[in-house]
Amino acid sequence: MASILVAGATGKVGQAIILALKHHPLRALVRDQTQLGAADGKVHEIFAADARDPASLRGVCKDIDIVITSIGGSLQLRRTPSKSGYWEVDYQANKNLLAEAKQAGVRKFIYVSVFKAPEIKGSAYFEAHAAFEEELKRSGLDYAIIRPTGIYYIFEEFVNFARRGIVPLFGDGSAKTNPIDEHDVARICVEALDASQTIYDVGGPEVFTRREIGELCFQALGKKPRFIKYPAGLMRAFIKPLKLFDQRLFDLMDFAILVNTVDFVAPRQGHNKLENYLNHLTASG
Ligand SMILES: NC(=O)c1ccc[n+]([C@@H]2O[C@H](COP(=O)([O-])OP(=O)(O)OC[C@H]3O[C@@H](n4cnc5c(N)ncnc54)[C@H](OP(=O)(O)O)[C@@H]3O)[C@@H](O)[C@H]2O)c1
Repeated sequence: MASILVAGATGKVGQAIILALKHHPLRALVRDQTQLGAADGKVHEIFAADARDPASLRGVCKDIDIVITSIGGSLQLRRTPSKSGYWEVDYQANKNLLAEAKQAGVRKFIYVSVFKAPEIKGSAYFEAHAAFEEELKRSGLDYAIIRPTGIYYIFEEFVNFARRGIVPLFGDGSAKTNPIDEHDVARICVEALDASQTIYDVGGPEVFTRREIGELCFQALGKKPRFIKYPAGLMRAFIKPLKLFDQRLFDLMDFAILVNTVDFVAPRQGHNKLENYLNHLTASG
């Protein structure tokens, strides 16, 4: 049975990947083992390193057959204080890991990227993912790239707004998307272990407008929906000064405005429904 390194193991997707890989010998690459959450106790070995630092990665791929990486800069507002931008993490940290994988003779490298990474220009988030995809394709390793739409947990921010009574919409809320559960993304990573397919564009089972997602959040809380609309052009002008003193926060806001105002609909590969996810989330507090 292939031995697998899961990098990004403390993240939402990384934890789900570990839970989905039931029978493989697993090594987890982490910065802080206490953040393994649901994956705690489910791996055979822990390797502590900061993937931005190549020296700290030495030996991480020793005796590993397959690497799955979901290392990425966070999309959560409350985790933004980290000074690392998307280029340092999504691109450079994964590139450092790829170099280690090549050196160690890893058989396959699976990367969790983002839907439309190669198409969307002018956004650090998308461009950093696309640039790493290119590094991977050029690496000579057998590879798979998984490109999900938004993952359900990012709507926790919407639920928090709904709890406070009003959900913000960038634009008019009509842009469509089919977000996907992290466990469905993990299942697809597992399917990719032995498949020859290299690119997986993956979305969830249902397409919603952004406004409909907001309505589902209110519904899960048993509250009447209320929205406030921010025109996208105005928001873009408003965040511009952020660039001068917090590039990371600027890139995150820029990403949020973009994905909330364009259609982001991928082939329907997920099974788990957003409504069930939100109901479970609100029921558990
Ligand atoms: N969330 C979404 O809606 C979404 C949608 C489409 C695509 N994606 C992509 O899917 C991938 C996984 O996303 P996710 O939602 O699971 O993100 P996440 O919960 O923020 O997890 C990111 C993981 O990367 C790790 N990491 C960050 N910097 C690191 C470093 N310097 N060295 C080692 N590990 C580092 C984090 O570790 P720490 O715990 O130590 O920070 C964490 O384990 C990312 O490429 C993301 O861009 C996400």
